Amino acid sequence: SITRHYTFNIQMRNITRLCETKRVITVNGKFPGPRIIAREGDRVVIKVVNHVPKNITIHWHGVRQLQSGWADGPAYITQCPIQMGRSYVYNFTITGQIGTLWYHAHISWIRATLYGPIIIFPKLNESYPFVKPYKEVPIIFGEWWKVDPEAVVSQAIQTGAGPNSSDAYTINGFPGPTINCSSKEMYRLKVKPNKTYLLRLINAALNDELFFKISNHTFTVVDTDASYVKPFKTDTIFITPGQTTDVLLKTKSRNSNVKFLMAARPYSTAASGTFDNTTVIGVLEYGGSQITPGNSSIKSLPLPPFPPINATAYVANWTNSLRSLGSSRFPVTVPQTIQRRFFFALGLGTNPCPANQTCQGPNGTKFAASINNLSFVMPTTAFLQAHFFRQSKGVYSTDFPTTPLSQFNYTGTPPNNTMVVNGTKVVVLPFNTTVELVMQGTSTLGGENHPLHLHGFNFFVVGQGSGNFNSTTDPTTFNLVDPVERNTVGVPSGGWVAVRFRADNPGVWFMHCHIEIHLTWGLRMAWVVNDGKLPNQKLPPPPADLPKC
Ligand code: C2O
Repeated sequence: SITRHYTFNIQMRNITRLCETKRVITVNGKFPGPRIIAREGDRVVIKVVNHVPKNITIHWHGVRQLQSGWADGPAYITQCPIQMGRSYVYNFTITGQIGTLWYHAHISWIRATLYGPIIIFPKLNESYPFVKPYKEVPIIFGEWWKVDPEAVVSQAIQTGAGPNSSDAYTINGFPGPTINCSSKEMYRLKVKPNKTYLLRLINAALNDELFFKISNHTFTVVDTDASYVKPFKTDTIFITPGQTTDVLLKTKSRNSNVKFLMAARPYSTAASGTFDNTTVIGVLEYGGSQITPGNSSIKSLPLPPFPPINATAYVANWTNSLRSLGSSRFPVTVPQTIQRRFFFALGLGTNPCPANQTCQGPNGTKFAASINNLSFVMPTTAFLQAHFFRQSKGVYSTDFPTTPLSQFNYTGTPPNNTMVVNGTKVVVLPFNTTVELVMQGTSTLGGENHPLHLHGFNFFVVGQGSGNFNSTTDPTTFNLVDPVERNTVGVPSGGWVAVRFRADNPGVWFMHCHIEIHLTWGLRMAWVVNDGKLPNQKLPPPPADLPKC
């Protein structure tokens, strides 16, 4: 193993998309950001220098951060933000993870333009448990707003309404020629016939779950969230914000000048029709078929046929197909006995409209989101420091509601009272506690899915189902043999997901919906995992350059 050093200069850069030039926040002037490349076992040291007049933090999404909680990055959870003119060194080791992860800003909506891939290869002299790819290609889905995404979120917060949707989805930063005025901005993947490509798919979109396809091609899924899975074939990838999926693409054998469209578009079960239903396209080019971007022949290529926008059964079936590889090198370590069980109901809700304001949320209120009716209020100092220095008094309390404060039939008529309770509360877990967490998607206020992301751990997805979770019958169906290991799982509206993990990583760990507006509205909480007794079970003291609030 080696140590790999990176410097990330956070700086503004003019980017032109959709015929308009805009100043955006980037890493080293690149959009999407530069790749981080490591082998399993390597140490990665990234000096982040903030040159922009905004507070910044960066989260290394999916990196386990074993005993390196100070490097995790969510603002006000593990650190105070890096102010303009300051820097902070993130220092962590990649342990037991191979595949694709990603990084993104973790404060306000700055991640709209500040994101990039983390590519983790096997150790030297080790190989993939699948055919060696001819080439590896990161493919990142994102969203592009003509305005500043921070203006979008601050307007949503002020009015209490849902946010304006983005102007385009992007593939590796490009919206593609189906959107007006973007004919030159198209992602092109040039391929040779008869080769195997490893596509590293990342959903960095802020607010939408996506389907991805390439016309006339199928994929073999081999890895999700940097854990190997039992390979399975599919022609349509489903990927929620926060998730990564590695797929093999076998190119066709003929060497003719052909091209095919690749495309992504949203999956949404929301009853309200406010979702952007546009499609982003790129092109897969064989041989000498290179076309000039903007060439009208692109528009004449057929779009791959997508499932309907609300194809819930397709999604349930797809996610059910994911199983851990379970090899002797990577055994499945799902906890078989459970010490703490939790039931979290995830949903949208409302907050009262302040007097002297008019609010555009449901019935003149403000939109909110909650776990067990608690809408989580961020502290103004960082949790991890408060925890480490035993100064939690006045920062947080430890009485997070572990069952819903108000219960109802989550698939039936939602209650009239959708008001949430606001607070800053956490769950404390002794070191090495085995946890089972059932997450129930409620169908209040339009019924949206919630891709839940846990920092600091992978969890095993042991069960999923539609309707209300039944604590007597549903656990008998749990897969405790080869459940998929992930850091982000889609909890369906009016359905449930059960996960298990072992709290073997001391620190404070954020858990939240990776749909950015739901995170903003309060669908978030934190787990405090106490130190164990042995020296290698303790969180080390903070680095000297840890930013102050
Ligand atoms: Cu990718 Cu807390 O986020």
